[in-house]
Formats: sequence, C-alpha cells, structure tokens
Amino acid sequence: MRRKLAAGNWKMNGDAALLGELATLAGQQADTAPEILICPPHPLLAHAVSVTDGSPVGIGGQDCHAARTGAHTGDVSAPMIAATGAQAVIVGHSERRAEHHETSEIVRAKATAAMAAGLTTILCIGESEEERLGNDTLKHIADLMHASLPDAATGDTLVIAYEPIWAIGTGRVPTLDQIVETHDMLRDELVGRFGPDAMTIRLLYGGSVKPTNAAEIFTADNVDGALVGGASLKAADFQPIIAALAAS
Ligand code: PGA
Repeated sequence: MRRKLAAGNWKMNGDAALLGELATLAGQQADTAPEILICPPHPLLAHAVSVTDGSPVGIGGQDCHAARTGAHTGDVSAPMIAATGAQAVIVGHSERRAEHHETSEIVRAKATAAMAAGLTTILCIGESEEERLGNDTLKHIADLMHASLPDAATGDTLVIAYEPIWAIGTGRVPTLDQIVETHDMLRDELVGRFGPDAMTIRLLYGGSVKPTNAAEIFTADNVDGALVGGASLKAADFQPIIAALAAS
C-alpha cells in the first residue's frame, strides 16, 4: 500500500506572508490525511520546519548539490538540507535542467547524495511539447527516468514526479488517458529495474494541478499524489487538492 503524497513546490517564492499560509495549512491537517510536504526556497527551510513543528506537514528542499561540502559557491548540499530538519528534496526539476543545464547524470548524482543524507528524493522527469507530439514519447520519458535514477531505490527513499514540461505553469494538462498510460509505463519500468519492491515507490503527477482538476487526475491507479507549484502557495488552493487526494 502506497501512502498518498501531496507535495508543494514553492519555487522561488517565499516570504513572511507565505510562512503564514504554511502555518494555516499545518493547522488544517488531520493525522489521517495523505502525507503532505512543502518545499520552500532554501533560506526558509529552518523557518518552515519550525512553523510546521508538531503538525503532519513535512518540509523539503528544491535541489541539492551532489557533493557533501566543497568549493561550490551558492550551492547547498543534501546533509545541509537534512540538518535544517527537512526530510525530503526535489531533484531534476525541468526548470533546473533547463536553467542550470543539469544533465540526467548530474541529477542522478544529486539523487544518490540526497538518499545518502537520508532525504526522501523526489526525482522529476517529463517531456517537452515537441517530444509529446513525437512518436517516441513514452520511450523518451522512460529513458530520461532510467538515466536519472540512482542504482538502488525503495519506496522509503524515492518518489518519482512525472511533470510534462508543457504542462508546468501553463494551465494545460495531459488527458487522463495520457496520464494513466505514462504512469502505468513508469511503474512497469521501475519494477523491471528494481524488482517487486518498486511497487512501493510513489508516482506523482505534476503540471498545472488545481483544485478543479485534481480529483480526476487522482482516479488513475498509478497516480499516488501530486507535485504542485502555483496552487501550493495558498492554503485555500492546496487544501482542496489534499482533500481530493484523501478522497481518492
Ligand atoms: P505548476 O508547477 O503546478 O505551477 O504547474 C508544478 C511544478 O513545476 O512542480
């Protein structure tokens, strides 16, 4: 049985007002709800951990360096993120792959470092619009995942987020059939790679998840939750998505 997960990616958004939203969100949760995670920018991690202390809301980072320490100005390592009290980290988001030229090899090293630091690793993969319209869409997504995956993974250490690049922040989402087909394929690939234990690895859908479309997306068997950007910034938007997940 996979515990459902609603993860929020604040991206480069966050200030005192947003920490207030986080406090509101934390106060709204029952222990029986799906797992909830919010990933604020790194400078807010420690604040976010203290604001959510004692609540079911966990905190994660948005990226980490593959090394533990060293001459990497501006970077943050996985053990540093863990030291704030955060429990997870996103790696391989398409914005990092595009803006910071992160290859799958780099993403793989980051995922390995994150796991070594004891962080749940949310590994993002997804196709461009051109790749979606091409003939080898599923193969492209599978190849990207395999190239980015660490050598070993379990449901306790790894979460996969399928995020079509063309759906991020655009208000466009794939059809339910496309989501089902992609997530079923990812599940098969993970089991092929890691064996039956990979049945416990959670698969999130991400890209323009909103209160209005969440319930339909969550009907897919291999959708175990969502990675939510814009709609995670306000408790009033994120809470209905959590509720839809709890009801699914
Ligand atoms: P969005 O972002 O929900 O704003 O589309 C999702 C993401 O990039 O993780």
